[in-house]
Amino acid sequence: TKALTPPDVLAARKGGDPLVCLTAYTTPMARLVDAHCDIVLVGDSVGMVLHGLPSTLGVTLDMMIMHGKAVRRGLQKALMVVDMPFGSYEESPQQAFRNAARLMAETDCAAVKLEGGETMAETISFLVHRGISVMAHIGLTPQAVNTVGGYKVQGRGQDAERIMRDAAAVEQAGAFSVVLEKVPAALADRITAQLAIPTIGIGASASCDGQVLVVDDMLGMFTSFRPKFVKRYAELGNGADQAIAAYAAEVRARRFPAAEHVFADLPQKAAEGET
Ligand code: KIV
Ligand code: NA
Repeated sequence: TKALTPPDVLAARKGGDPLVCLTAYTTPMARLVDAHCDIVLVGDSVGMVLHGLPSTLGVTLDMMIMHGKAVRRGLQKALMVVDMPFGSYEESPQQAFRNAARLMAETDCAAVKLEGGETMAETISFLVHRGISVMAHIGLTPQAVNTVGGYKVQGRGQDAERIMRDAAAVEQAGAFSVVLEKVPAALADRITAQLAIPTIGIGASASCDGQVLVVDDMLGMFTSFRPKFVKRYAELGNGADQAIAAYAAEVRARRFPAAEHVFADLPQKAAEGET
C-alpha cells in the first residue's frame, strides 16, 4: 500500500473518517502503531517518555534523528511526522529550514511538526514554500513550559481569541494540519469548524478531525503520570512490574531456569537444530 501523504491528510478532512495518530520512538512500537494508524508522530515527548528528562527542553536534533531513523524502519503505510526539538527552529526561518531539511534527509519523514501559532507563521510559510510539509502545534505547547508556568489548559475565557488567531495564522501560513493540545472542548470545536486544514486533538475534543496520544501513556507504561486527557487502553506498566517480580522471585528460589530452558550435552539434540 502507498503511504499516506500530507496532501492526502489535507484532503481527508471534514466529515471523513477521523485521522488516527499515535507517537512512536522505536522500531517495534512503530510496527505495532503502523498497523492501525494514519499518522505516526516521533514526538519530542521521547525525552520525557524514554530518556527520563524533566521536560522536552533537553531534547536535541540528534535524538530526534536517532529515534526518527528507528521509527522509519518500522513503518510501511502511515505518514511519518517528526517533531522539531526546542532550539532547532525558533531563531529564524533559515535556522528552521536547515534543521528541518536535516531531519527529513536523515529520517525520511514526510513532514515536521513545530510548536507555535502567530509567532511561527513566518517560519511555517518559509518551510512550506521550500518543500517541507509542516504540522503545526498550538494551545498547550510543552516547549514553552517555563514562560507559560506549567502544563495548564490554554485558551479559557478571553484567552480563546489568542488560540483562534494562532489557528488562523498556521493555516494561512500553509500548515497541512494542526495539533490542538489541552484547550477547552468548545474552543477545539470552534477551531475545527473554522479551519479548512484538519485539527488533531490531544486533550481537545472528539469533534477534531483526528486524535493523537503518546503511545506509552495510552498503554499505561507508567504508574505516576496520569493526565485527565489520557485514556488508558492497557496497563502494561503493571504487567511488566508483575512479570519482573515473578522473574526475580523464581531466580531467588532457583526455579528459573527450569529444565526446558537449559541445554543438554547430546550431539543428536544439537543436530535437530537446538540453539
Ligand atoms: O511530543 C509529542 O508527543 C507531541 C504530541 C503529544 C502531539 O507533540
Ligand atoms: Na511534541
